[in-house]
Parts: sequence; structure tokens; C-alpha cells
Amino acid sequence: MSKTALVTGITGQDGCYLAKSLLEKGYKVYGGQRRSTSSKHWRLDEMGITGDIEYVELDVVDQANIRRAIEKTKPDEVYNLAAQSFVALSFEQPELATLVDGFGTLKVLESIRQVNPRIKFYQASSSELYGKTQEAPQSEQTSFHPCSPYAVAKLYAHWITINYREAYDMFACCGILFNHESPMRGENFVTRKISKGIALWLREGQPIVLGNLEAKRDWGHAEDFVEGMQLMLNADQPQEYVLATGKVHTVRQFIDKTLAYLSIPGYWKNDECFDKRNDKLIVTTDKSNLRPAEVGLLAGDSTKAKTELGWNHKYDVDSLMADMVEADLRRYPRP
Ligand code: NAP
Ligand code: GDD
Repeated sequence: MSKTALVTGITGQDGCYLAKSLLEKGYKVYGGQRRSTSSKHWRLDEMGITGDIEYVELDVVDQANIRRAIEKTKPDEVYNLAAQSFVALSFEQPELATLVDGFGTLKVLESIRQVNPRIKFYQASSSELYGKTQEAPQSEQTSFHPCSPYAVAKLYAHWITINYREAYDMFACCGILFNHESPMRGENFVTRKISKGIALWLREGQPIVLGNLEAKRDWGHAEDFVEGMQLMLNADQPQEYVLATGKVHTVRQFIDKTLAYLSIPGYWKNDECFDKRNDKLIVTTDKSNLRPAEVGLLAGDSTKAKTELGWNHKYDVDSLMADMVEADLRRYPRP
């Protein structure tokens, strides 16, 4: 008999890739989405799977509503992807990040415990938990030092998931995922600002405005990472696993790769990048894009996921960047 999954955060980047993958494996997929005055299905539409998912009203700040959604959908597996996931915004709205990303997870767990504690639960933990840690690369053994309201809320969610597993013997696990991007990435995140920004620069000439160009990230592709989520929920035992590529690049290097891919000869003057052919500005910075506390380096060691789950990634940073740039060139073609 086919399995049933309830995915919170179905309208987000990971939600659409996970739903596509689960549907391909024969799952019945319920998508939890919060009420909105307009449709937020652009990702699912682009993937052509909007009609294959059954939707339930689900806001993770309202427990009665989560409980009803679980009673109605009777899932075998719950993937809790719902979050206010933009780190920078969590400094502006710290309470909201705490309610959604922290307490929201508790409410989903508690609803599962009340309705059917045999439902398997996946929590979207984050490499942001490592924050200011001095250790690199970071593995399941590395200690956490979160440094944003987002990361602190995710730390609570991480430990409450483990607590429910230990206290109630639930199959609850956390994937500690490093940055993963895709053509479906939200437009505020730096890789998408670059891929969309360069398409608009080619079309209309306005420069891309960024913040800290020296931040180092371990960027993978969401398509690879949602496979790891499913492997975790289908492992013999619920455990925590790091998913990462192990390769690190700065924001500046991601820009250089993008320009090279498009054969745009760029040169840097401090934090501004220009077109060698005509000195036209391509990238500049503005302090509004800096954060009160910054995570300088995230580099993941996913040896455990590779050896125990057989997980691996198909994309590297170059094929990820190409996928994103090509998608935005299609969306924003030159006239
Ligand atoms: P995303 O694109 O920002 O999607 C977040 C989803 O959560 C959206 O569907 C959003 O719905 C939903 N949501 C927000 N507030 C909600 C609420 N109160 N109730 C129910 N749903 C709510 O994020 P993502 O990149 O797919 O990431 C998925 C999860 O993985 C998040 O928990 C994120 O923190 C975590 N994570 C992501 C990465 C990464 O690099 N992408 C790495 C580690 C962990 P709306 O469309 O209504 O806003
Ligand atoms: N967003 C953004 N915009 N980031 C910029 C910019 C800019 O203009 N300029 C430089 N950056 C730097 C940020 O300061 C950060 O160091 C890095 O680029 C990556 O920023 P984001 O793409 O916003 O992602 P993130 O690393 O903060 O968070 C993402 O990854 C986490 C996992 O490590 C999100 O997906 C989180 O939800 C996720 O948990």
C-alpha cells in the first residue's frame, strides 16, 4: 500500500522538491499551507505538480489546526519544513521566528503525540545551529553556537525533537542541512539574488546590490537534499544527520563563477564588480544587507549520512549555479 506524507511548508523551495520526489515514489502527498489571499503555488506550478497534491490549511502557530490536519490526513510521515527561513528577517522579527520556527515545531510534535505517536517525524534543522563555532568542517559532533534569532529558535526545535524521541519513543529525527539552493530558491537569498540579478543586469542594466561578499557557505542543490530527508525517515533508527557537499565558496566566488559561466569579463575594485568591456557596474554593496551578527564560515562533513544512509549529492556548486542562472535567464529573457 502506498504511504502518505504530510509536508508542512509545501509552498517553499524544499516543499516543492520533496513533494515531487515523494510523488515519484508513489506517495500520497498532503501539502500543509497557511491561509493567503493569493496563490503561492508558483514553484509547484513550474514543476507541474500543483494538481497532484492535496492541500490542507496548516499554520504551525495554531496547534488545534495542526491536530485537525493530522487527524484528517492520517500521514505515515510528517516532514516539518515550515519556517520563517530568512535569517536576516529574524533580526527584524525575532518573536515571529521564535513562534514559527521554535514553538511551531513543538506544536507539530505534540499534535503527533496526541493523535498517533507512530507517525514518523522529520525536522528541518540547519547548519545555522553551528553559528560562531570555531570547528570546521562541522559534523554531528560539533557543538552549536547559534547567532541569530532564527538559529536560536531552530536550536529549540532541534532539541525538542530529540526530547520527544527520547521521552515518548517517537520516530523523530533532525536533518542538519547546510545551505541548499535551486531555481526555486526564494528571491531574498544570496544565490538567487545573484542568478536573478545577473539576468536583470543583462536585460535592464541595473546592478546587483549585496552585503558581505566574504561569507563562506557550503552550497548544495535542494533536489539532492530532499532525498536525504527521506533516507533519514526510512532508516532503521531515528538519528541526526548532516547533509552538505563539503565544498566551501565565498559569495564573491559565487559571483565570479556566474560571470565566467556567462562569459562576462568582470573585474573587482574593492567590493564593486565592473564589466571589463565598458566599466559598467555589475555588483555593488549596501550596508542594509549586513546582519547584526554574521555566520562567517559553514562547511559540512556529511560522512555519517554517506556511510549510514548511502546519501550523496549529484550537483556541485558549478552545476547548481548553472541550473539557477539558466532558469532565471528563461524567466527574464532579454528583449
Ligand atoms: P522557504 O522556501 O522559505 O519555505 C518555507 C515554507 O514555510 C513556506 O512554504 C512558507 O509558507 C512556510 N511557512 C512559513 N511560516 C509558516 C507558518 N506559520 N505556518 C506554516 N507554514 C509556514 O524555506 P526552504 O528553503 O524550503 O527551507 C525549508 C526548511 O528547511 C525551513 O524550515 C528552513 O528553515 C530549513 N532549512 C533550509 C535550508 C536551506 O538552505 N534552504 C537549510 C537548512 C534548513 P509561505 O509560502 O506561506 O510563506
Ligand atoms: N540574503 C543575502 N542577501 N545574503 C547576503 C547578501 C545579500 O544581499 N550579501 C551577502 N550575503 C551573505 C549573508 O550575509 C550570508 O552570510 C550568506 O550570504 C548567505 O545568506 P543567505 O543566502 O541569506 O542564507 P543563510 O546562510 O543566511 O541562510 C540559509 O541557509 C541556512 C542553512 O545554513 C537559509 O536557507 C536558512 O533558512 C538556512 O537554515
